[in-house]
Amino acid sequence: MADSPNPPPTAPDTGPRAGKNLKEGGTIEPVREILWGSAVGVRKYETPDELPEELRKLIVKLMVVQADTEFASIQQHRPWLDHAPTLEDRWIEARIVADEARHGLQACRILKDFGEEGQHWIDDLLAKKEGEHKLDAFNMKFDAWSDVGAFTCLVDRVGVYQLRAFQECSYGPLARAMPLMLSEEQLHLNFGANVLRRMSREGPKYSGSREEAQAAVRKWYPRALDMFGHSNSDTSRRAIEYGLKRWTNEEARNRFIAETTPILERMELDVPAADFDRHIA
Ligand SMILES: [Fe+2]
Ligand SMILES: [Fe+2]
Repeated sequence: MADSPNPPPTAPDTGPRAGKNLKEGGTIEPVREILWGSAVGVRKYETPDELPEELRKLIVKLMVVQADTEFASIQQHRPWLDHAPTLEDRWIEARIVADEARHGLQACRILKDFGEEGQHWIDDLLAKKEGEHKLDAFNMKFDAWSDVGAFTCLVDRVGVYQLRAFQECSYGPLARAMPLMLSEEQLHLNFGANVLRRMSREGPKYSGSREEAQAAVRKWYPRALDMFGHSNSDTSRRAIEYGLKRWTNEEARNRFIAETTPILERMELDVPAADFDRHIA
C-alpha cells in the first residue's frame, strides 16, 4: 500500500522541458529556468546576490524555519532511540535522527551562502533548546510510542508537502537539495503509518492499542494542519509569484487532508474535523 503523496494536479507543466533535459546516456540535466510565477522562463537564481530583496528575505526566513524543525525533531526523537519497542524500530529511529540532522545541515548550508546574516541565524538555531522552537508541533514531547507514530505519519508528511512545494523552485541551490531530502522523508512517513497501523491492528502484541493510536492522531493532526500557516497569507501568494513555492497554504493543507484521510481510515482510525483544536486558521 503506497502512502506516498500523489502527484500534484497543479504542478508546473514540465512535460516538454523534461524531454529537452533528458540527454543521451540517461543523464538528466537539472532544469535551469524558472518554471512558474512572474519570471517564468528566465534562468533560475543561483546566488543570494542575484535575488530580489523580498525573495532573499523570504528564502532566509523559510530556511530558518526549515532548519529549526529539523533540529527540533532530533530533540523529540532522541529519547526513543533506546526505548522504541523493537530492535528494528530503534534502528529506524536512529536513521530518522541521522536524516533530520542532514536536512538541518542542508538548510544551514543554504543559509551560509547569505553571509553574516545567514551565520547569525545558524548560530541562533544551534543554540535552541527543547521548547524554544518556532512551531508548536516541535515544542511537544513524544510522551508515548504512539506520539512517534502519529508525528512521523502526520507532521513529517506536512514537511514533505513543504519540501515538494520547493521542488524545481526558482532558487537553484534550494531546488537541487529537494530530491534527496524527499526520498529520505518518504521513509519517515511510511514508518509512522506502519507504527500506527500495527498499534491499531495488533495492539499490545506490538505496542499500545488502537485507543492510544487514536488519541495520538487527535493530538498531532491539528498541529499538523496548523503547520501550513494562515489560509489568507500574503507571503504564500508572493512565494508563488516568485516561483519559490507551488501552492498557497490553504491549497497545500487541503491536499494533505485529502491524502491523509484514506490512510487513517484504512487503519480504522477516525480523522478529526479540520477545525478541531486548531490554533492557526
Ligand atoms: Fe527532515
Ligand atoms: Fe522527517
